[in-house]
Amino acid sequence: MSKSAFITGVTGQDGSYLAELLLSKGYTVHGLLRRSSSFNTERIDHIYQGPEEAQRSFILHYGDLSDGVALVNLLRDVRPDEIYNLGAQSHVRVSFSTPLYTSDVTGLSTVRLLEAVRASGIDTRLYQASSSEMFGTSPPPQNEKTPFHPRSPYGCAKAFGYWTTVNYREAYGLFAVNGILFNHESPRRGETFVTRKISRAVARIKAGLQDCLYLGNLNAVRDWGYAPEYVEAMWRMLQCNEPDDYVVATGEAATVKQFLELAFSHVDLDWTEFVRYDPSYERPSEVNALIGDASKAQEKLSWKPSVRVQELARIMVDADVALLAAGLSGQNVRVSA
Ligand code: NAP
Ligand code: GDD
Repeated sequence: MSKSAFITGVTGQDGSYLAELLLSKGYTVHGLLRRSSSFNTERIDHIYQGPEEAQRSFILHYGDLSDGVALVNLLRDVRPDEIYNLGAQSHVRVSFSTPLYTSDVTGLSTVRLLEAVRASGIDTRLYQASSSEMFGTSPPPQNEKTPFHPRSPYGCAKAFGYWTTVNYREAYGLFAVNGILFNHESPRRGETFVTRKISRAVARIKAGLQDCLYLGNLNAVRDWGYAPEYVEAMWRMLQCNEPDDYVVATGEAATVKQFLELAFSHVDLDWTEFVRYDPSYERPSEVNALIGDASKAQEKLSWKPSVRVQELARIMVDADVALLAAGLSGQNVRVSA
């Protein structure tokens, strides 16, 4: 019998790579799809299987993380061996504009899902998508023992989800783990996160379609890894004998300015000629530096990243140049957030 998995956030960057990974391992993958007035399945269209296909291994279910009863009903029907809770309002700047919504969907939904596991009475393992944002002002390098000091409604909501996951493990003996993932990017990264905003702008500026790029704080330090490698770590956490929490990171740091330099110079452009400052992209309270120490994941999961920031910038710029050439990149020049 092949294993089955249930992924919330399957239409997101990580959900799409994780679905591919699990399908390649022979899993039957169930994904939670929220209703949208426009198509939101672009990242998974290439693996979509219609209801007419016999013996489908990839199945989407309408639902929403804010609807706890729907989660109970779904889990009771699907009875997955593994659950990956990746669904979230995941944008830090936007969380300052929608603090209650973010607390609900990104924070409280973790309890809804864990209670749905209990209410449906299934025997399963759960992965919670925790975040390096929880560390906030705690100085780098950050590891599993570093105290949390979140700096945004998003970070606070993730800290709540983290402790809830730990509590359900301790109180009810659930196999529930936290992956504390540092920033990870790819050509599927949402267009309003800084790396993708940059790679997309580089492609458009090079093609003569855009004059400049508006950004906020260029001095922030981040530990940027490659998303397809990070979903492998998620899966490995659920294959362990005992549930535990792990930091996943490259251990290498770059500023936004350095990412700009890497991305623009890859197509022989000088970023200083094109980048303008817009204070609206600053956060009311910023996280200055995130650099992860993933030695526990290396030791216990035998997980090691291979793509570093220079190659990441190249992969993302090349992908956006190719998208543009294929006529597939959107026209909105000034993306907010
Ligand atoms: P993402 O691209 O923003 O994807 C978020 C997913 O959540 C999307 O599928 C989205 O659906 C879904 N979602 C949002 N609200 C929902 C709701 N109310 N009900 C059901 N689904 C909902 O995020 P990502 O980069 O893949 O990250 C995956 C997870 O890891 C998130 O929890 C994020 O906070 C966390 N994380 C990410 C990073 C990173 O660097 N990428 C680092 C640490 C932690 P739509 O497609 O319909 O919007
Ligand atoms: N988005 C954005 N847009 N960020 C900008 C901009 C801009 O125009 N200009 C500068 N930045 C800076 C931000 O202030 C931040 O310091 C840094 O670029 C990275 O911003 P994001 O790419 O939005 O990512 P993030 O670090 O805030 O959050 C991401 O990583 C977290 C893990 O540390 C998200 O993926 C979160 O969901 C994730 O948990």
